[in-house]
Amino acid sequence: MIKRVDLGGRSLNVFDLGRGPVLLWVHGFPLNHQMWSGQLEYFAQNYRVLAPDLRGFGGSDLAGAEMLGMDNFADDLRCLLDVLHITEPITYCGLSMGGYIAWSFLRKYQRRLRALVLCDTLSTADTREGVEKRFKNADRVLREGTSFLADEMIPRLLSPVSLEQRPAVEAAVRRMILSASPESVAAALHGMAHRIDSTGLLSSIKTPTLVLCGADDAISTRAQMLQMASAIPDSEYVEIPRAGHMAPCERPDFVNAALACFLERVHDTAPVSTL
Ligand code: MLT
Repeated sequence: MIKRVDLGGRSLNVFDLGRGPVLLWVHGFPLNHQMWSGQLEYFAQNYRVLAPDLRGFGGSDLAGAEMLGMDNFADDLRCLLDVLHITEPITYCGLSMGGYIAWSFLRKYQRRLRALVLCDTLSTADTREGVEKRFKNADRVLREGTSFLADEMIPRLLSPVSLEQRPAVEAAVRRMILSASPESVAAALHGMAHRIDSTGLLSSIKTPTLVLCGADDAISTRAQMLQMASAIPDSEYVEIPRAGHMAPCERPDFVNAALACFLERVHDTAPVSTL
């Protein structure tokens, strides 16, 4: 189920389960594939689910990189598909930074895509203040480690309801942030700060796209995500009530129902049964 995949000089930790059309799950920052634990086994009933730990995160090597740009991650994902001999177009499902990486993947490898699922993400680049904050946090994480980041991020990652009533979700997110290495966190912060605005790309997306947004998302707000969805020609927008930026962890049943419906339509597959 978890395998080590050698990409030539570096390796990725990859959750790989099931048979059928390939769903590639790309996690957010500074997390790992476990953020999809409410989705992976469920969708493995009807699909091949592939959820890598991105370079430097979870069990995957950083391999000495000082900056992890969105293109680096996208290249790793293309390389992963090649090494696993996956040639048919895949469905890419990315959350937040996983969405930023989707823009790079689209620019470079659009023909590898069958469909796109964008969860709680933005097409815009960082504001000037946002870039400065990322650089400050990158310096600070190298000096102090990741615990300040967990304290700073968690109130913005989760909805007020989750913060009050879903302690297991908060604990899981905190565990993932604390387990990330400071060097990888700093490298990804630099990479996100340097990412370009991808809004101009939206109208050229040719694949069916599902846009999912936690109604209480404080990082990629419903207004921003609605606007993004309206610019993508073949897109559907679904809002997840009482969820924030980490909607797939906060409301897995709701997210899975929306995803299953979209995937059945795109792949013409049978309904996934309830586990
Ligand atoms: C994420 O969830 O990947 C981050 O919130 C992205 C970001 O910091 O912009």
